[in-house]
Amino acid sequence: MSYVDPRALVADDVQIGEDARVWAFSQLREGVVVGTGSSIGSHSYVGPGVRIGKNCKLQSGVLVFEGADLEDGAFLGPGVIITNDRLPRAIKPDGTRKSDDDWRIDRTLVRRGASLGAGALLVAGVTVGEFALVAAGAVVTSDVPPHALVAGVPARVMGWVCCCGARLQVEDHVGECSECTRTHQISSP
Ligand SMILES: CC(C)(COP(=O)(O)OP(=O)(O)OC[C@H]1O[C@@H](n2cnc3c(N)ncnc32)[C@H](O)[C@@H]1OP(=O)(O)O)[C@@H](O)C(=O)NCCC(=O)NCCS
Ligand SMILES: [Zn+2]
Repeated sequence: MSYVDPRALVADDVQIGEDARVWAFSQLREGVVVGTGSSIGSHSYVGPGVRIGKNCKLQSGVLVFEGADLEDGAFLGPGVIITNDRLPRAIKPDGTRKSDDDWRIDRTLVRRGASLGAGALLVAGVTVGEFALVAAGAVVTSDVPPHALVAGVPARVMGWVCCCGARLQVEDHVGECSECTRTHQISSP
């Protein structure tokens, strides 16, 4: 059974999977899909057509704008922002208001198992690779490779992480976990 707080604003056609939860004062726009077992924290905004996979966890106050796609197991810390317009303008050069058709949405993808720390911001159009970890407060301006740990403004690779979250020791493109027995293929650098 899913749970939607009665104080959430959920558009009529939103699909909410089994065991999913939507907490108070969140808004889910038209066409949103929330996968089985996923949770959307209070005071969040999920834009039109955003797809949220299975077992994702969105903490409170996340802003996920139209054009984003979150694969299974994505984690968004409190206050994460996923934007959708690289060159935003409210008006056209002649000063008239832009309409909904006057702009292009850049798609943004958070791959399976990736985590975005508190207050991280994704500039429109980037892909965050599988099981990557974006540090708190990072501004991600380019694609993040799978298993990368990125931090800062703009975000830069500062290490590599296992699917369990611990650091990987990388040699010859093989990452060995410091906490569990897993190894991962690291494509770059
Ligand atoms: C990035 C992160 C994983 C690093 O953790 P860690 O491996 O324990 O690393 P350390 O704390 O030892 O820091 C290592 C270096 O990175 C820096 N650093 C740590 N977090 C950083 C961040 N968010 N942004 C920029 N630099 C950061 C440290 O200052 C340190 O720099 P130094 O070597 O020059 O002193 C962690 O700080 C983080 O941001 N986690 C996300 C937490 C979060 O938002 N959770 C959301 C759920 S509440
Ligand atoms: Zn591990």
